[in-house]
Amino acid sequence: MTTKHSEHIYPVFDRMLQRSDKEKLLKQRAKVIWMTGLSGSGKTTIALGFERLLYNKGFLTQVLDGDNIRSGINSNLGFTEEDRAENIRRIAEISKLFVNCGVITINCFVSPTIAIRENAKQIIGEQDFVEVFVNTPLEICEQRDVKGLYKKARAGEIKNFTGIDAPFEAPVNPDIEIKTENKTIEESVQELADKILPLIQI
Ligand code: ADX
Repeated sequence: MTTKHSEHIYPVFDRMLQRSDKEKLLKQRAKVIWMTGLSGSGKTTIALGFERLLYNKGFLTQVLDGDNIRSGINSNLGFTEEDRAENIRRIAEISKLFVNCGVITINCFVSPTIAIRENAKQIIGEQDFVEVFVNTPLEICEQRDVKGLYKKARAGEIKNFTGIDAPFEAPVNPDIEIKTENKTIEESVQELADKILPLIQI
C-alpha cells in the first residue's frame, strides 16, 4: 500500500497574513517577471539594471537566476529535458512564495520550451506571470560568448547546450519582447520598465 506524501500535511495558509496585507505594506503589486531567452541573451544583465531602477523608485524585488539557483537549491540538477523541467518547477514554486510575500520577483532562466514555461505559469498563476522574451539572435549570443560556453558546446565539451544541440522554442505570444540587438542595456531596461511599472504600481 502506498501513502501519499501529502496525506498528513496540514497547511496553515488560512491563518497567515494575506498577500494583500503585505502588498499594502510594501505599496506595490507583486508579479513574477519571467525572462526567457538563450544563454548570453542578456536576461540577467537587464534584470539587474531593472532591479536597481525599481529599488530607486522604492519597490522591493528579488532576482532569481540560473547560475545562482543551480549552485544552491538545484545543485543536483543538470541539463537533460527532465532536469530542466524540474529546475523550472522548483523555481516556479519558490517564485510563488515570494509573490505571496508581496515581492516583485524577476526570474532569469533559459526555460527553453513552451511546455516548461506553461508549467511555470500554471504554478504561479496566470494573473501573476509576465513572460518577457529577451530576443537576442543565437549568432550574437555566440559572438559575445561571455562565459565561453558556446565555444565549449561547439567543441563538444558541453552536451545539450541550448541553441546548439538542445532546442530553444521562442515564445509565440510573449507579454513583452525585448530585442537587445542595437540597443544599450539602459535602453532595454527602460523599455522593460515602461511596460512593467503600470502593472506593479498601486
Ligand atoms: S534552464 O534551461 O534549466 O532554464 P538555466 O537558466 O537554469 O537553464 O541555466 C542556464 C545557464 O546554465 C546558462 O546561462 C549557462 O551559464 C549554464 N549552462 C551550462 N550548461 C548548459 C546547457 N547545456 N544549456 C544551457 N545552459 C547551460
